[in-house]
Amino acid sequence: MSLLGILDRVADKATFDKAIGPAQRAVQAALRPQALRDLLHGTWLGHPLHPILVQVPVGGWISAGLLDAIPPLRPAATVLIGTGVAVAVPAAMSGAADWSEQGIGVRRLGLLHAAGNTVALGLYVGSLVARAQGRGGLGRVLSYAGLGVASGSAAIGGHMSYAQSSGASHAATAARALSSEWIDLGPLDDLPEGRAALRTGKGGSADVPLAVVRRGTKVDAFIGVCSHLSGPLYEGSVEQVRGTDCLVCPWHGSAFNLDDGQPRRGPAANPQDKLEIRMQAGRVMARLPGRDR
Ligand code: FES
Repeated sequence: MSLLGILDRVADKATFDKAIGPAQRAVQAALRPQALRDLLHGTWLGHPLHPILVQVPVGGWISAGLLDAIPPLRPAATVLIGTGVAVAVPAAMSGAADWSEQGIGVRRLGLLHAAGNTVALGLYVGSLVARAQGRGGLGRVLSYAGLGVASGSAAIGGHMSYAQSSGASHAATAARALSSEWIDLGPLDDLPEGRAALRTGKGGSADVPLAVVRRGTKVDAFIGVCSHLSGPLYEGSVEQVRGTDCLVCPWHGSAFNLDDGQPRRGPAANPQDKLEIRMQAGRVMARLPGRDR
Protein backbone atom coordinates (compact mmCIF):
# COMPACT_ATOMS: atom_id res chain seq x y z
CA MET A 1 0.00 0.00 0.00
CA SER A 2 1.24 3.49 -0.82
CA LEU A 3 2.05 6.06 1.85
CA LEU A 4 -1.00 8.04 0.83
CA GLY A 5 -3.15 4.91 1.09
CA ILE A 6 -1.90 4.45 4.65
CA LEU A 7 -2.81 8.05 5.48
CA ASP A 8 -6.30 7.52 4.06
CA ARG A 9 -6.64 4.47 6.32
CA VAL A 10 -5.59 6.55 9.32
CA ALA A 11 -8.16 9.19 8.42
CA ASP A 12 -10.83 6.47 8.56
CA LYS A 13 -9.79 5.12 11.98
CA ALA A 14 -11.85 6.22 14.96
CA THR A 15 -9.24 4.99 17.47
CA PHE A 16 -8.35 8.41 18.83
CA ASP A 17 -11.72 10.08 18.40
CA LYS A 18 -12.22 10.15 22.17
CA ALA A 19 -9.15 12.36 22.46
CA ILE A 20 -10.01 14.53 19.49
CA GLY A 21 -13.22 15.98 20.94
CA PRO A 22 -11.61 17.31 24.15
CA ALA A 23 -8.57 18.53 22.20
CA GLN A 24 -10.83 20.39 19.80
CA ARG A 25 -12.73 22.02 22.66
CA ALA A 26 -9.47 22.95 24.39
CA VAL A 27 -8.16 24.65 21.23
CA GLN A 28 -11.43 26.52 20.74
CA ALA A 29 -11.41 27.64 24.39
CA ALA A 30 -7.78 28.76 24.23
CA LEU A 31 -8.43 30.72 21.03
CA ARG A 32 -11.75 32.09 22.23
CA PRO A 33 -11.74 35.66 20.97
CA GLN A 34 -13.16 35.50 17.46
CA ALA A 35 -10.71 38.20 16.36
CA LEU A 36 -7.77 35.99 17.39
CA ARG A 37 -9.22 33.01 15.53
CA ASP A 38 -9.79 35.11 12.42
CA LEU A 39 -6.23 36.42 12.65
CA LEU A 40 -4.92 32.84 12.78
CA HIS A 41 -7.23 31.50 10.06
CA GLY A 42 -6.13 34.27 7.67
CA THR A 43 -9.67 35.62 7.27
CA TRP A 44 -8.26 39.18 7.21
CA LEU A 45 -5.93 38.15 4.38
CA GLY A 46 -8.48 36.34 2.22
CA HIS A 47 -6.10 33.35 2.23
CA PRO A 48 -5.29 30.64 4.78
CA LEU A 49 -2.43 31.84 6.99
CA HIS A 50 -1.03 28.46 8.05
CA PRO A 51 0.57 27.47 4.71
CA ILE A 52 2.25 30.87 4.56
CA LEU A 53 3.71 30.71 8.07
CA VAL A 54 5.04 27.18 7.73
CA GLN A 55 7.34 28.31 4.93
CA VAL A 56 9.64 29.83 7.55
CA PRO A 57 10.38 26.75 9.70
CA VAL A 58 10.37 24.38 6.72
CA GLY A 59 12.65 26.59 4.62
CA GLY A 60 14.86 27.53 7.56
CA TRP A 61 15.32 23.99 8.78
CA ILE A 62 16.07 22.55 5.33
CA SER A 63 18.58 25.34 4.70
CA ALA A 64 20.14 24.77 8.11
CA GLY A 65 20.61 21.11 7.23
CA LEU A 66 22.64 22.13 4.20
CA LEU A 67 24.67 24.77 6.06
CA ASP A 68 25.47 22.33 8.86
CA ALA A 69 27.27 20.19 6.30
CA ILE A 70 29.77 23.03 5.75
CA PRO A 71 31.69 23.72 9.01
CA PRO A 72 32.33 27.49 8.53
CA LEU A 73 28.61 28.03 7.88
CA ARG A 74 27.33 26.30 11.02
CA PRO A 75 26.72 29.54 12.98
CA ALA A 76 24.33 30.58 10.18
CA ALA A 77 22.58 27.20 10.50
CA THR A 78 21.98 27.93 14.18
CA VAL A 79 20.38 31.29 13.31
CA LEU A 80 18.07 29.61 10.79
CA ILE A 81 17.08 26.91 13.27
CA GLY A 82 16.27 29.57 15.89
CA THR A 83 14.19 31.54 13.37
CA GLY A 84 12.30 28.38 12.42
CA VAL A 85 11.63 27.54 16.08
CA ALA A 86 10.32 31.07 16.76
CA VAL A 87 7.91 31.07 13.78
CA ALA A 88 6.85 27.46 14.38
CA VAL A 89 4.84 28.66 17.39
CA PRO A 90 2.43 31.02 15.54
CA ALA A 91 2.38 28.52 12.64
CA ALA A 92 1.22 25.82 15.07
CA MET A 93 -1.41 28.15 16.55
CA SER A 94 -2.70 28.93 13.08
CA GLY A 95 -2.82 25.24 12.19
CA ALA A 96 -4.61 24.43 15.45
CA ALA A 97 -7.24 27.11 14.77
CA ASP A 98 -7.90 25.64 11.30
CA TRP A 99 -7.84 22.07 12.62
CA SER A 100 -10.48 22.81 15.24
CA GLU A 101 -12.97 23.81 12.49
CA GLN A 102 -12.40 20.86 10.14
CA GLY A 103 -14.25 17.60 9.55
CA ILE A 104 -13.37 14.44 11.47
CA GLY A 105 -11.12 12.87 8.80
CA VAL A 106 -8.91 15.95 8.70
CA ARG A 107 -8.88 16.17 12.49
CA ARG A 108 -7.68 12.57 12.78
CA LEU A 109 -4.74 13.13 10.45
CA GLY A 110 -4.22 16.57 11.95
CA LEU A 111 -3.58 14.98 15.32
CA LEU A 112 -0.77 12.94 13.76
CA HIS A 113 0.55 16.03 11.98
CA ALA A 114 0.56 18.01 15.23
CA ALA A 115 2.27 15.19 17.13
CA GLY A 116 5.02 14.98 14.49
CA ASN A 117 5.53 18.73 14.50
CA THR A 118 5.70 18.80 18.30
CA VAL A 119 8.41 16.13 18.28
CA ALA A 120 10.31 17.98 15.54
CA LEU A 121 10.07 21.26 17.45
CA GLY A 122 11.34 19.56 20.60
CA LEU A 123 14.31 18.13 18.70
CA TYR A 124 15.17 21.55 17.28
CA VAL A 125 14.88 23.22 20.69
CA GLY A 126 17.18 20.50 22.03
CA SER A 127 19.55 21.19 19.17
CA LEU A 128 19.67 24.90 20.01
CA VAL A 129 20.38 24.11 23.67
CA ALA A 130 23.17 21.68 22.71
CA ARG A 131 24.72 24.23 20.34
CA ALA A 132 24.55 26.93 23.03
CA GLN A 133 26.42 24.56 25.35
CA GLY A 134 29.15 24.02 22.77
CA ARG A 135 28.02 20.48 21.97
CA GLY A 136 27.79 21.06 18.23
CA GLY A 137 27.90 17.37 17.25
CA LEU A 138 24.86 16.56 19.39
CA GLY A 139 23.16 19.72 18.12
CA ARG A 140 23.56 18.58 14.55
CA VAL A 141 22.33 15.05 15.29
CA LEU A 142 19.22 16.48 16.96
CA SER A 143 18.51 18.94 14.13
CA TYR A 144 18.92 16.28 11.43
CA ALA A 145 16.54 14.05 13.42
CA GLY A 146 14.16 17.01 13.66
CA LEU A 147 14.38 17.53 9.91
CA GLY A 148 13.45 13.90 9.30
CA VAL A 149 10.43 14.05 11.59
CA ALA A 150 9.34 17.46 10.26
CA SER A 151 9.55 16.18 6.68
CA GLY A 152 7.31 13.21 7.48
CA SER A 153 4.89 15.49 9.26
CA ALA A 154 4.91 17.93 6.33
CA ALA A 155 3.91 15.05 4.04
CA ILE A 156 0.91 14.43 6.27
CA GLY A 157 0.06 18.14 6.15
CA GLY A 158 0.29 18.05 2.36
CA HIS A 159 -2.07 15.09 2.26
CA MET A 160 -4.54 17.02 4.43
CA SER A 161 -4.41 19.89 1.95
CA TYR A 162 -4.34 18.07 -1.36
CA ALA A 163 -6.27 14.87 -0.69
CA GLN A 164 -8.64 16.11 2.01
CA SER A 165 -8.99 19.68 0.70
CA SER A 166 -8.45 21.26 4.10
CA GLY A 167 -7.74 24.91 3.47
CA ALA A 168 -8.89 24.68 -0.13
CA SER A 169 -11.80 26.80 -1.34
CA HIS A 170 -14.75 24.49 -1.77
CA ALA A 171 -16.59 27.32 -3.53
CA ALA A 172 -13.85 27.55 -6.16
CA THR A 173 -14.29 23.86 -6.98
CA ALA A 174 -18.03 24.38 -7.52
CA ALA A 175 -17.35 27.57 -9.51
CA ARG A 176 -15.11 25.69 -11.92
CA ALA A 177 -18.01 23.40 -12.80
CA LEU A 178 -20.42 26.27 -13.48
CA SER A 179 -21.43 26.92 -17.08
CA SER A 180 -20.05 30.03 -18.76
CA GLU A 181 -23.55 31.02 -19.95
CA TRP A 182 -25.58 33.79 -18.38
CA ILE A 183 -27.93 32.19 -15.85
CA ASP A 184 -31.52 33.35 -15.60
CA LEU A 185 -32.28 33.86 -11.89
CA GLY A 186 -35.90 34.83 -12.60
CA PRO A 187 -37.81 38.10 -12.10
CA LEU A 188 -36.37 40.56 -9.59
CA ASP A 189 -39.68 40.68 -7.72
CA ASP A 190 -39.57 36.93 -7.10
CA LEU A 191 -36.43 37.27 -4.98
CA PRO A 192 -37.12 37.71 -1.26
CA GLU A 193 -35.90 40.96 0.27
CA GLY A 194 -32.86 40.80 2.57
CA ARG A 195 -32.41 37.06 2.78
CA ALA A 196 -30.74 34.32 0.81
CA ALA A 197 -32.57 32.42 -1.89
CA LEU A 198 -31.51 29.27 -3.71
CA ARG A 199 -31.11 29.33 -7.46
CA THR A 200 -29.10 26.96 -9.63
CA GLY A 201 -26.80 27.16 -12.61
CA LYS A 202 -25.83 24.44 -15.02
CA GLY A 203 -22.74 22.50 -13.99
CA GLY A 204 -20.71 19.73 -15.59
CA SER A 205 -22.61 16.70 -14.26
CA ALA A 206 -25.02 18.37 -11.83
CA ASP A 207 -26.55 21.76 -11.18
CA VAL A 208 -24.45 24.18 -9.13
CA PRO A 209 -26.34 25.85 -6.26
CA LEU A 210 -26.24 29.63 -6.07
CA ALA A 211 -27.02 31.87 -3.10
CA VAL A 212 -28.84 35.01 -4.21
CA VAL A 213 -29.59 38.01 -2.00
CA ARG A 214 -31.75 40.97 -2.98
CA ARG A 215 -31.44 44.32 -1.25
CA GLY A 216 -33.97 46.62 -2.90
CA THR A 217 -33.04 46.68 -6.58
CA LYS A 218 -29.51 45.41 -5.88
CA VAL A 219 -28.86 41.70 -6.29
CA ASP A 220 -25.79 39.79 -5.11
CA ALA A 221 -25.26 36.21 -6.25
CA PHE A 222 -22.63 33.79 -5.00
CA ILE A 223 -21.68 30.18 -5.49
CA GLY A 224 -24.02 28.52 -2.98
CA VAL A 225 -21.37 26.14 -1.60
CA CYS A 226 -19.45 27.75 1.27
CA SER A 227 -15.73 28.16 0.60
CA HIS A 228 -14.95 26.74 4.06
CA LEU A 229 -16.47 23.25 4.01
CA SER A 230 -19.25 23.34 1.41
CA GLY A 231 -22.01 24.51 3.76
CA PRO A 232 -25.32 25.54 2.11
CA LEU A 233 -24.81 29.28 1.86
CA TYR A 234 -28.23 29.66 0.23
CA GLU A 235 -29.68 28.76 3.64
CA GLY A 236 -27.55 31.41 5.34
CA SER A 237 -28.69 34.67 6.89
CA VAL A 238 -27.95 38.27 6.00
CA GLU A 239 -26.33 40.05 8.93
CA GLN A 240 -24.17 43.04 9.71
CA VAL A 241 -20.71 41.74 10.63
CA ARG A 242 -18.01 44.27 11.54
CA GLY A 243 -20.00 47.05 9.94
CA THR A 244 -20.63 45.24 6.65
CA ASP A 245 -23.68 43.51 5.22
CA CYS A 246 -22.68 39.86 5.04
CA LEU A 247 -24.07 36.50 4.04
CA VAL A 248 -23.49 34.18 6.99
CA CYS A 249 -23.01 30.43 6.54
CA PRO A 250 -25.37 28.31 8.66
CA TRP A 251 -22.73 25.67 9.42
CA HIS A 252 -19.85 27.42 11.16
CA GLY A 253 -20.79 31.10 10.95
CA SER A 254 -18.35 32.33 8.31
CA ALA A 255 -19.49 35.73 7.06
CA PHE A 256 -18.89 36.95 3.51
CA ASN A 257 -19.13 40.59 2.47
CA LEU A 258 -22.14 40.89 0.18
CA ASP A 259 -20.33 43.50 -1.90
CA ASP A 260 -17.25 41.49 -2.84
CA GLY A 261 -17.46 38.00 -1.26
CA GLN A 262 -14.42 38.56 0.94
CA PRO A 263 -14.58 36.81 4.32
CA ARG A 264 -15.32 39.16 7.23
CA ARG A 265 -15.46 36.43 9.87
CA GLY A 266 -13.97 32.95 9.89
CA PRO A 267 -13.38 30.11 9.96
CA ALA A 268 -13.42 30.74 6.20
CA ALA A 269 -10.21 32.32 4.94
CA ASN A 270 -11.00 32.04 1.24
CA PRO A 271 -13.44 34.43 -0.43
CA GLN A 272 -16.79 33.33 -1.77
CA ASP A 273 -16.96 33.39 -5.57
CA LYS A 274 -19.35 36.13 -6.65
CA LEU A 275 -21.28 36.30 -9.92
CA GLU A 276 -21.78 39.42 -11.97
CA ILE A 277 -25.35 40.59 -12.46
CA ARG A 278 -27.25 42.28 -15.24
CA MET A 279 -30.95 43.00 -15.67
CA GLN A 280 -32.69 41.88 -18.83
CA ALA A 281 -36.37 42.69 -19.35
CA GLY A 282 -37.02 42.66 -15.59
CA ARG A 283 -35.19 39.38 -15.07
CA VAL A 284 -31.99 38.93 -13.14
CA MET A 285 -29.14 37.38 -15.11
CA ALA A 286 -25.89 36.19 -13.54
CA ARG A 287 -22.61 34.60 -14.50
CA LEU A 288 -19.12 34.32 -13.12
CA PRO A 289 -16.90 37.19 -14.25
CA GLY A 290 -14.28 36.41 -16.88
CA ARG A 291 -16.49 33.77 -18.51
CA ASP A 292 -17.20 35.60 -21.79
CA ARG A 293 -14.53 33.86 -23.83
S1 FES B 1 -19.06 25.40 5.85
FE1 FES B 1 -17.98 26.13 7.56
S2 FES B 1 -18.55 28.19 7.65
FE2 FES B 1 -19.55 27.48 5.90
